[in-house]
Amino acid sequence: RLVPTILCGGAGSRLWPVSRELHPKPFIRLADGQSLLQKAFLRGATLPGVKEVLTVTNRELFFKTEDEFREVNKAQLPTSFILEPFGRNTSAAIAAAALHVVKAHGEEAIMLVLAADHLIEHQESFANAVIDAAELAQQGKIVTFGIQPDVPETGYGYIESEGNKVLRFVEKPSLEKAQEYLESGRFLWNSGMFCFKAGTMLQAMEQHCPEILAATKACIEQSRRAEGKGFAELELDAASFAQVPDSSIDYSVMEQSSLIAVVPCNIGWSDIGSWSALGDLSAADDNGNRIDGSALLHDVSNCYIQSNKRVVGAVGIDNLIIVDTPDALLVADKSRAQDVKHLYAELKAQG
Ligand code: GDD
Ligand code: MG
Repeated sequence: RLVPTILCGGAGSRLWPVSRELHPKPFIRLADGQSLLQKAFLRGATLPGVKEVLTVTNRELFFKTEDEFREVNKAQLPTSFILEPFGRNTSAAIAAAALHVVKAHGEEAIMLVLAADHLIEHQESFANAVIDAAELAQQGKIVTFGIQPDVPETGYGYIESEGNKVLRFVEKPSLEKAQEYLESGRFLWNSGMFCFKAGTMLQAMEQHCPEILAATKACIEQSRRAEGKGFAELELDAASFAQVPDSSIDYSVMEQSSLIAVVPCNIGWSDIGSWSALGDLSAADDNGNRIDGSALLHDVSNCYIQSNKRVVGAVGIDNLIIVDTPDALLVADKSRAQDVKHLYAELKAQG
């Protein structure tokens, strides 16, 4: 049994002002009308033999998420949810999901953790990679999906590997290290998707982050369980969930465990992490500009402009990101796209 498990959390603060707390990145619709979240759902739901899709998300996003799924869930596959009162990062989300799956289907059930905010262009190659991953998972591995790197991106995990064998996993290295890894040709990027037996993950957590596992277990005991269709839905208790240490699975398990394996794959993967990444999805004009909406340009090059309500006029600029929404306007240097998150943090601090 293969249970696709979608993680949908995180505000997507680098995509402000379109991505907000209650309209986070996975809900952003692309040019084809589908949201990143719907794409993630279909990515899992259409794999052979899949009988249900599990989603871990914030309870405020539950109805919105259900609506998104309903729109694309033509096969009416059962969906089930674990609802968080707030994010405690991916270790907590994965621990809760693995405990839930073990209870419903036993330790041998294979989970495929999918991020809600990625694009994968080649579904067929992805499906083949999942077959390889599931086989390794069957043998007790925690499998990552490795992507050939082309720039020294510091926001990703790096996997030093030989074939499926992982020598080292390094989460978010410094720029210096990232450059060194890229040049060595021995490293792949971690795509942020994982495949493992639910029981394997719980054992690894027991070994490497027992506090997270214990606190999540305690939380589930305190939580409300509603018997629904598919398998039971779970709403995590806020007071006890607040006790779970905040750490990403990359630090608490992937960097620590000797069970990590990798399936190198060429699946047209991209992490829509920032406006420059989102901009790269649309076709550029002769001057390297990508326009989403309407803009009037004169001597403008290499800009990304998004505006759905008003016309943006620009003269004599280069390498800028301009995103216009009804109540906020973003202007940023493209090379600083990653830093848009600081605006979001600032706004949040102001309340
Ligand atoms: N339910 C839930 N709860 N989901 C969460 C939470 C949480 O508290 N925190 C993050 N997520 C979801 C995000 O929505 C996203 O789909 C996924 O988990 C990964 O979280 P990110 O916050 O986007 O992680 P990252 O981009 O910094 O790093 C991860 O992804 C990179 C590739 O995109 C790591 O796995 C890196 O190693 C990897 O290279
Ligand atoms: Mg991410």
